[in-house]
Amino acid sequence: MKPDVKAFFDDATNTISYVVRDPQGSSCAIIDSVLDFDYASGRTDTRSADAIIAYVQAEGLTVEWLLESHVHADHLSAAPYIQERVGGKIGIGDRIKVVQDTFGKVFNEGTEFQRDGSQFDKLFQEGDSFMIGQLRGDVLHTPGHTPACLTYVIGDAAFVGDTLFMPDFGTARCDFPGGSSETLYQSIQKILALPEETRIFVGHDYKAPGRDEYAWETTVGEQKARNIHVGEGKDRDQFVKMRDERDATLAMPKLIIPSLQVNMRAGQMPPADEKGDVFLKVPVNKL
Ligand SMILES: [Fe+2]
Repeated sequence: MKPDVKAFFDDATNTISYVVRDPQGSSCAIIDSVLDFDYASGRTDTRSADAIIAYVQAEGLTVEWLLESHVHADHLSAAPYIQERVGGKIGIGDRIKVVQDTFGKVFNEGTEFQRDGSQFDKLFQEGDSFMIGQLRGDVLHTPGHTPACLTYVIGDAAFVGDTLFMPDFGTARCDFPGGSSETLYQSIQKILALPEETRIFVGHDYKAPGRDEYAWETTVGEQKARNIHVGEGKDRDQFVKMRDERDATLAMPKLIIPSLQVNMRAGQMPPADEKGDVFLKVPVNKL
């Protein structure tokens, strides 16, 4: 089955959110939504999420799922905001527990911060499947960028989150806590083992030298032939060396500190204080 895929590009964080629709009905899933956040002022904005909600409502869609490919470090998830308005179950990888444990320590969270993934409606494991109306989705565990990363294979389309990017840009970084370039290489082999004509939808795009337009859709065949990091038969050792050297030069994403604190809670802000005010922490010299 060939799902209808509508993409929403967020300029501020280079994130692509997707609405994936059962072609034979009105069911859909929303993948990797964005809650706009201005770090300088500490203000959230729902413009990006509202655009998705408006689309879903205009098309008369029923939201079955709000899927996260992983705990994002560069944008806040709008899943709870969207869920409140149009429903859907929030799903993420079962290994979220590892991520919650790691960042629960980094942010010195108290025992009220559960590290069991219970903030989410569904925890997926490798090999799980789920339905969007008549459309079937299958779950691949594809860690490396983070321990909990999933690829959702829905009909002929694979939503790969931060694993592969467009062929001319390459792959995702592996230097966050719990990341591993060797693991990412193995995960990418799983994605490349899908049928060549499988459509691949990436989680981010940053253009690439010589390319003027943003792009987010490619295929397994194109990735195998042309991905600058893993295509053309590049082997594991070449990839690991390239990835580790490159990661050592990368700055932290601008929104990593707020993103982790919110996304490890399934997109909820930390609990309000006794006056009802909400604060995020900045751990000094810890990341
Ligand atoms: Fe990411």
